[in-house]
Amino acid sequence: MSAETFAKLIDGKAVAAQIRAEVAARATALAERGVRGGLAAVLVGDNPASHTYVRMKRKACAEVGIESFYYELPAETSQADLEALVESLNARADVHGILVQLPLPAPLDEQRVLSLISTAKDVDGFHPLNIGRLAMKGREPDFLPATPAGVMRLLEAYDAPFAGANAVVLGRSNIVGMPCALLLTKRDCTVTICHSRTRDLPDVIRRADILVAAVGRPQMVKGDWIKAGALVIDVGTNRVPDSSAKDGSRLVGDVDFEAARQVAGAITPVPGGVGPMTIAMLLENTIKAAERSLS
Ligand code: GUN
Repeated sequence: MSAETFAKLIDGKAVAAQIRAEVAARATALAERGVRGGLAAVLVGDNPASHTYVRMKRKACAEVGIESFYYELPAETSQADLEALVESLNARADVHGILVQLPLPAPLDEQRVLSLISTAKDVDGFHPLNIGRLAMKGREPDFLPATPAGVMRLLEAYDAPFAGANAVVLGRSNIVGMPCALLLTKRDCTVTICHSRTRDLPDVIRRADILVAAVGRPQMVKGDWIKAGALVIDVGTNRVPDSSAKDGSRLVGDVDFEAARQVAGAITPVPGGVGPMTIAMLLENTIKAAERSLS
């Protein structure tokens, strides 16, 4: 490819808008059957990013006709009180999905809290049973984690040739990297997971037909690490200083976008790529949970 040929832009905003419209239609159909979909959002402590995310999720619920119930708890909340809240939400008929925003402040035990959420209401897909099913052949989780599900939906929208493709996932977090690797494996990709101890990282990434970057390091992946024609999904949202921007900063991904787009076949922008998909998939999971509550 010549330097003048740019990659196709993978438009997460457009794909997410379509999903949100479908969720809104399903919410209306459910309401006609007497059920208003409901999502409970639990936020503990004062992590500013968590507050922003939860605000965005609640706003998105309102826009598609899903009711949101909000529980903002102080950082000093006890494990017992948090667990009691989750149990009470499990028992409520008007709550179809439960979201406990992560990370939880220390010393709260995240694993115990996530294990308590009813798997049928686990719209984040973080319950160990749902993650375990994701890792097994022939098993299906009740719900997929939102960001990895969004990554896969974007790849599908751009006709990723999954079977036999070399897929490289950069990052092995519980929330993004590892579930992405499992989902790509389920689609018959040959998957390599890279992390801080990976040797010859550029060479490993150069073999990727599909690259999912989720390390949280601004513009770490260079243009000459990208295979010509690769599909590049950039999950990173890193704030970097920018004196020309109004608030003195801007968002960049984990990939050097301007360089990579001259080599890749298709690439997500940051912002406007994976970001909008995360909330759309959470809404889709919630409406699915509400629909299942009828059957
Ligand atoms: N923290 C970062 N991403 C997520 C997410 O998708 N869900 C929750 N609950 N917490 C997060």
